[in-house]
Amino acid sequence: MAAIRSALINVMVRSAQKAGRLLVRDFGEVEQLQVSRKGPADFVSTADHKAEQALKAELRKARPQFGFLMEESGASGSETAEARWIVDPLDGTTNFLHGIPHFALSIGLEQGGELVAGVVYNPITDELFWGEKGQGAFFNDRRLRVSGRRNLAEALVATGVPFLGHGDPEGFKAELAALMPRIAGIRRFGAASLDLAYVAAGRFDAFWERDLSPWDVAAGIVLVREAGGFVSEIGGGHAPMMSGSILAANAHLHLPIGKVLRDAAGAGASGAGSPGRHSGL
Ligand code: IPD
Ligand code: CA
Ligand code: CA
Repeated sequence: MAAIRSALINVMVRSAQKAGRLLVRDFGEVEQLQVSRKGPADFVSTADHKAEQALKAELRKARPQFGFLMEESGASGSETAEARWIVDPLDGTTNFLHGIPHFALSIGLEQGGELVAGVVYNPITDELFWGEKGQGAFFNDRRLRVSGRRNLAEALVATGVPFLGHGDPEGFKAELAALMPRIAGIRRFGAASLDLAYVAAGRFDAFWERDLSPWDVAAGIVLVREAGGFVSEIGGGHAPMMSGSILAANAHLHLPIGKVLRDAAGAGASGAGSPGRHSGL
């Protein structure tokens, strides 16, 4: 099917590309700063904020009536707004900081309590993943489908690893120990929005992570669902975006991988929400 981008998707893509150009320019600088004693941390934080401001300005110009939930500036204008943008201007900050070209801008749109559109853009590789509810998901102009793999033994699964002051290392170790010997491989690439986009593209068969924020996953959830995949909390609940616990996979592997992770985490694990409790966010 040929990709026909709606006016809404065009707004999102244009904004991501514009702010993406700023990030690409700053990424070039970061590579120089690696050798300095202080390192590039402050510079990267400024780059992150600049990209967010650029995104906000573009999105606001195109849809002044929409609100925002953004990683750096938080919620704004959303009290009465009919819809809100959920935005991470730089997902994969640690990669960016270390000169690793794997990061993205992530823009999700929530309307009437539902996620309705998503754009994830890697400005270095110029890979654009976009999707709109009911219209499908696309990579540049090609239709996306999740992978067709059915066997756990063939599955390549992405995850996020707890780090300094963040997450539950013991719980994660139990999940890893349970899943690792059953599957073909595990990857930790460091940008949750791209992990989800890669599931939508069939590159990864599944992705799971805990303790994420709405802006890490809003756009990616739309992509996976529109590519024919399933997204839930790890415990099975229906609020992956708001709970921060996410399991995304193709339709064949969602259940078996979820079972392995839940058995590993035990009955009292976080993210074990009851199905039907939430509105699908
Ligand atoms: C992070 C990335 C990473 C995930 C972290 C997130 P940031 O976002 O998505 O893959 O493991 O939990 O916080 O900080 O690079 O925007
Ligand atoms: Ca992020
Ligand atoms: Ca970020």
